[in-house]
Amino acid sequence: MNVCTTVGCSGESKLQCPTCVKKGIVGSYFCSQECFKSSWSVHKVLHQTKGSSVSTSGNGYNPWPSYTFSGSLRPYPQTPRRSVPTSIERPDYANHKEGISLSEQSFRGTAVIKQLDDDEIDAMRVACKLAREVLEEGAKAVEGGVTTEEIDRIIHEATLERDCYPSPLNYYEFPKSCCTSVNEVICHGIPDLRPLQNGDICNLDVTVYHHGYHGDLNETLFVGEVSEKAKKLVQTTYECLQKAQSLIKPGTRYRDVGDVIQKHAQKNGFSVVRSYCGHGIHKLFHTAPNVPHYARNKAIGVMKPGHVFTIEPMINEGTWRDTLWPDDWTAVTVDGKLSAQFEQTFLVTDTGCDVLTERLTNNGQPHFMDKL
Ligand code: MF3
Ligand code: CO
Ligand code: CO
Repeated sequence: MNVCTTVGCSGESKLQCPTCVKKGIVGSYFCSQECFKSSWSVHKVLHQTKGSSVSTSGNGYNPWPSYTFSGSLRPYPQTPRRSVPTSIERPDYANHKEGISLSEQSFRGTAVIKQLDDDEIDAMRVACKLAREVLEEGAKAVEGGVTTEEIDRIIHEATLERDCYPSPLNYYEFPKSCCTSVNEVICHGIPDLRPLQNGDICNLDVTVYHHGYHGDLNETLFVGEVSEKAKKLVQTTYECLQKAQSLIKPGTRYRDVGDVIQKHAQKNGFSVVRSYCGHGIHKLFHTAPNVPHYARNKAIGVMKPGHVFTIEPMINEGTWRDTLWPDDWTAVTVDGKLSAQFEQTFLVTDTGCDVLTERLTNNGQPHFMDKL
């Protein structure tokens, strides 16, 4: 059955966009003229792409003809950059030509971990709660036929509505307002015009900046019915984050986090990504501590009350080795097999931790569990 590619529809569709048919762009289904019209502003961008037959993705777009992809996912065209009203407070990199954060760079190489005071902690609570709300809005929209571009638009607008700046936008020139990492994408997938397909897994990573502080979280979601191996990978990845969370209290060494994560991943036949780590977060998006997810790492530092950091394990079905697409952002598995991730922002308290980005509905359970 073909599914209407209009957001929020996914009705059975027999009509195809005539321009796409002419250009050999497959998959442009709409259930009605109404849906076709309402999708037009986003859909028409597909037509601007070269109608070459080189790409195996069927979208007629192949920006890197000599690049060999590790898996079956392909890039699709991206829509133009979105704007943020000047009334919304921005991080320093938002206006920098190359998206460089001078505030972050001034702390580069220091392992000193900031202990936030009560006012700073309150500000982090607010930013993280808003980030969670924004992720919930994006998650609602995830279903077959919806493009990751559309998810990004929803997240961008939900972020602005809450008087927040979407932290990814222009961060080292990242072009969109969230990361959408599908199937073999480990992290930092760029939202584009690829419609999600039933059976995909899609990670939604949301970070917002509110009154000077960042809040960061992500979840991997199921698109329609997914394979048993995808279910096991996503479940195991979530358990890895929970096991890591249970270690958080004053006195725990940051280097111990990776041991419990890798142990649990390995027990289930999976591997742990080594190139991307959890991080300190507050006035800066990424800062000390560095929190590797793999075992026997040499991370510096001991948890103290007032530390705020993320844990965000990326767990792979096959090898842990990663590589980058030529866009210099999209991190994928080198064997093209699945990768999953979960992330929360944590505050170390006197007795343990507060999950600043916790889900406030469904008993705090992640979205994928609703579909098991
Ligand atoms: N949110 C990601 C993290 O968990 C970082 C995304 S950076 C971006 O650290 F530039 F890709 F958006
Ligand atoms: Co993060
Ligand atoms: Co994140």
